[in-house]
Amino acid sequence: MNESQSRAGRIIVALDTDSKQEALQIVKQLPQVEIFKVGLKLFTLEGPLLLKDIHNLGKKIFLDLKMHDIPNTVAQSVRAAIRYGVSMLTLHTSGGKEMMARAVEEGKEEAAREKCPPPLFLAVTLLTSLKKKELRDIGMNPSIPDQVLRLSHLAQTAGMDGVVCSPQEIELIKNKYGKNLKIVVPGIRPQWAANHDQKRIMTPSQAFQKKADFLVIGRPIIQASSPSNAFQLIVEESYNSPNSSDCGDSPKDHPHHNHNH
Ligand code: C5P
Repeated sequence: MNESQSRAGRIIVALDTDSKQEALQIVKQLPQVEIFKVGLKLFTLEGPLLLKDIHNLGKKIFLDLKMHDIPNTVAQSVRAAIRYGVSMLTLHTSGGKEMMARAVEEGKEEAAREKCPPPLFLAVTLLTSLKKKELRDIGMNPSIPDQVLRLSHLAQTAGMDGVVCSPQEIELIKNKYGKNLKIVVPGIRPQWAANHDQKRIMTPSQAFQKKADFLVIGRPIIQASSPSNAFQLIVEESYNSPNSSDCGDSPKDHPHHNHNH
């Protein structure tokens, strides 16, 4: 596997669509993509059979439901997800160490039973939508870096494989837990794409430079007039020097961006 394939293989496409039909159409348009993320909205709309359909197309599934419940319920749900072919999934660190540890233990057991590799267990530390005041309101330490590190530590001791974090937190976590935790990063925008509602963004090359393990990218790919071209451009851009100014066109000039979205 050359370097280019390895970066392409680490870009996860978020299937934030309104229907299964639309989602499967995007999967079929992107034969070069290995991993697709299914989130709470699409899962609630279409149910777990969608996972089977994606799996049957030969793709890996990242099920991003940010599970948070009593340990037994989460462990059983993780088992079910694995039976549907999920290979990456998210749990909320605020569910506590026992919840995460049980999920990891039972998930590995279920994967062995299904004769498939164990999934990557990813921890959500703080939702990026929570600001200092909201953290105080729920009785949490309002220092976001401290809280992110504390919860990353908890995830690591519970046996989790990685964390989902904002681009700004990559270095913080990598410096402290880089050897033990994989880092999955949304909030990524190629230079030519619109920011949408993402505020603190980073380009693919910046995020890889900071040693993110996986990037999650949705709208710049799934809303492009050609998702396949958009993905290819992102892979190419991911090799540009993070500070170079010639990595892409401006959004309005870019031929591959669909302006209807
Ligand atoms: O379309 P876009 O590239 O912004 O999609 C990013 C994906 O990552 C979405 O599925 C979104 O829910 C998810 N996400 C995020 N920010 C977080 C956590 C998850 O954008 N802090």
